[in-house]
Amino acid sequence: MKVLLVGSGGREHALAWALSKSPLLTKLYCAPGNAGIAQGAECVPIAATDFPGLVKFAGETGIDFAVIAADPQLVAGLWDIFEAAGIRSLGPSKAAAVLEGSKGFVKDLCMEAGIPTAAYQRFTAPAPAKSFADSLGYPVVIKADGLAAGKGVIIALSKNESDKAIDFMFEGGFGESGHAIVVEEFMEGEEASFFALSDGGNVVAMAGAQDHKRVGDGDTGPNTGGMGAYSPAPVLSPALELVAMEKFIKPTVAAMAAKGRPYLGVLYLGLMITKQGPKLVEYNARFGDPECQVLMPRLKSDLLTALLAAREGKLTPLQWREEVALTVVMASKGYPGSYEKGHVITGLEEAAKVPGVTVFHAGTERRGDAIVAVGGRVLNVTALGKTVAEAQARAYQAVDLIHWNGAFCRRDIGWRALKR
Ligand code: AMP
Ligand code: GLY
Repeated sequence: MKVLLVGSGGREHALAWALSKSPLLTKLYCAPGNAGIAQGAECVPIAATDFPGLVKFAGETGIDFAVIAADPQLVAGLWDIFEAAGIRSLGPSKAAAVLEGSKGFVKDLCMEAGIPTAAYQRFTAPAPAKSFADSLGYPVVIKADGLAAGKGVIIALSKNESDKAIDFMFEGGFGESGHAIVVEEFMEGEEASFFALSDGGNVVAMAGAQDHKRVGDGDTGPNTGGMGAYSPAPVLSPALELVAMEKFIKPTVAAMAAKGRPYLGVLYLGLMITKQGPKLVEYNARFGDPECQVLMPRLKSDLLTALLAAREGKLTPLQWREEVALTVVMASKGYPGSYEKGHVITGLEEAAKVPGVTVFHAGTERRGDAIVAVGGRVLNVTALGKTVAEAQARAYQAVDLIHWNGAFCRRDIGWRALKR
């Protein structure tokens, strides 16, 4: 079977790595991919945003199955475009990706389906939004309704900050995404993610993980796409995983089917574990990045078989390794702000020899014989271990063998699990 994977980050390298182990696979293509993905797949120079180019390539190449990894393409309807062209693919559809594409839609769905989440209201004008924020008290959370490249959420500590955030969004600070907003209650607790795979009707549990969103050690500094992750996350006990499935994922998939928006694909549940129990922070319509990089090494079942089964409506339970996986994101100095590109990376081969270690590439490119850093997040150094401590030690042993000008990483990935 010929498979096309759309995307180019660390998540996509982890997916390519897992797909390439499948007995069903004859050839894996990735558009556009990166230097790490190119080690196991044929990368084709078509941007993930070039939908006509992707469809043309898939048609001409006889692609049997396409996997769309990232939210912008899913929310813009690439699944629908592939399927209309006769190319089977893993969604969700545009209608179902609204779970990631509209925060207001998700909040309304939570109310209808009785899913625990922060108190909220939706607004299309600033004055009523400001008075509702006042009624909730501070801190308060202001969210642009649509996708905003992970930046559309502002936690306002005071009335002044909240009013400014609301004005910023309505003045187009996040473009179209901020023309409708959600104002919601601030939740206190520890965050964790849980992943499930849905075929539109049935849904199977995947696993839990915990990300590290702030750039600095001890969860300090600005928010990023994620600086490291591990799975399983002890904060999500087996009992809480059951709650995640029964009280969040299953009612959501059922509600989406009832609305004529059957959800086919990976569903990412972002939870806040509060004193009153778990509450929904957000849904994403895809694997997390870097969470995917710790899920794939733990997946014992064949990924391609599982994703195809989801597409065909024939899901069966998935098997997971007991071991812990932990990934450390190595980034370029300046990230999440601006950073230099083009520095040569050394030590990749030595790092990959550390027991249990796999290095997934995010922002890399091959130039002649060299692999160079071209992204903010550049590498995901991932290790399996019997415990979080062992996986962490192995990952940092490998990290310390890798160098480029301006490389940095957090040194404390896994700290919440180790502190327990
Ligand atoms: P989101 O884009 O919805 O994931 O939000 C980004 C981040 O903002 C989340 O990962 C949380 O850390 C934080 N956040 C979002 N909503 C809330 C909330 N109601 N209370 C506290 N933190 C929140
Ligand atoms: N790591 C967070 C995300 O993928 O949205």
